[in-house]
Amino acid sequence: MLDALSRLRTTALDELSHATSPAELEAIRVKTLGKKGELTLILRGLGQMDNEQRATLGAQANAFKEEFAQSLTARMEQLKQAELTQRLEREWVDVTLPGRPRPPGTLHPITKAQNEIIAIFTAMGFPPASGPEVESDWHNFEALNIPPDHPAREMHDTFYLPPSPDGRKRLLRTHTSPVQIRVMEGRQPPLRAIAPGKVFRCDSDLTHTPMFHQVEGFLVDEGVHFGQLKGLLETFLIRFFERPLPVRFRPSFFPFTEPSAEVDMGCLFCAGQGCRVCKKTGWLEVLGCGLIHPNVLTNVGIDRERYTGFAFGMGVERLAMLKYGFPDLRALFENDTRFLTRYA
Ligand code: DAH
Repeated sequence: MLDALSRLRTTALDELSHATSPAELEAIRVKTLGKKGELTLILRGLGQMDNEQRATLGAQANAFKEEFAQSLTARMEQLKQAELTQRLEREWVDVTLPGRPRPPGTLHPITKAQNEIIAIFTAMGFPPASGPEVESDWHNFEALNIPPDHPAREMHDTFYLPPSPDGRKRLLRTHTSPVQIRVMEGRQPPLRAIAPGKVFRCDSDLTHTPMFHQVEGFLVDEGVHFGQLKGLLETFLIRFFERPLPVRFRPSFFPFTEPSAEVDMGCLFCAGQGCRVCKKTGWLEVLGCGLIHPNVLTNVGIDRERYTGFAFGMGVERLAMLKYGFPDLRALFENDTRFLTRYA
């Protein structure tokens, strides 16, 4: 019996030391110590032994169980360690390797031009403002001195929307001028702001898209005059195009300004000689502007006797095309990354 136990001890401990997984360890435990295990078989013989033999075998068997349990735990630890080491090796990352560069994202040329315009005006003290793209008829037209039957409405190719729940007429704003109204309403001068945004007109051909971008600016205070407006816009154009430029103001008409002017700058492509871009005139039209019509001030509760103001508006697509030198409006909306990265 003692021989059998000693043989069991040798094989069992040997098997434990060679086991390669927790499952194998468990199988060895069951085979050795389980109810039908080898130790149980050996101990079955205890009944036929005398007391002394029984005591010796019992003690040896207990010692073996103890030893077996310790070996099992130790081997289990080893296996766990080995597995961890393997995993660490498998999942090793060289944090000192440089990152894999991806093609960098770029700003859309419209966003870029818009940001540049805003930066120039905020540096001159005009805080950015915004208004909704779905506008009321009041803000987009009436408050701007364009009554319902005014012929100027036809020029705007308005997208009309169903009226709001309270019955007010709604539309997609056709210009950013309503932001002037929103900034002035309920406030008193001195007031000024610069307002970029999307505008919408039911018009689509080579040189028109139904959605485009404008930047609106205005200032109201005591003693505001046209000379200040001229100086401001000349400075803006020279900063935006980063070169000295001739600028001229031509009389024009807008319902919300009086007097009104359109601003031309010397053609960038032919230096005034006359080319295709400027239609042989040597000038490019880039801005609309004027002194705010007194009716507009009255409409927002500002004293027209005490205050005057100027306003101006410009199309971002046109300015971006001129500055970055791309010929076709449609390229702005096709999302061709070759175009976007070239002009960004
Ligand atoms: N709102 C005009 C348009 O969309 C542009 C404009 C012209 C804005 C003159 C102004 C302005 O503020 O004074 O055509």
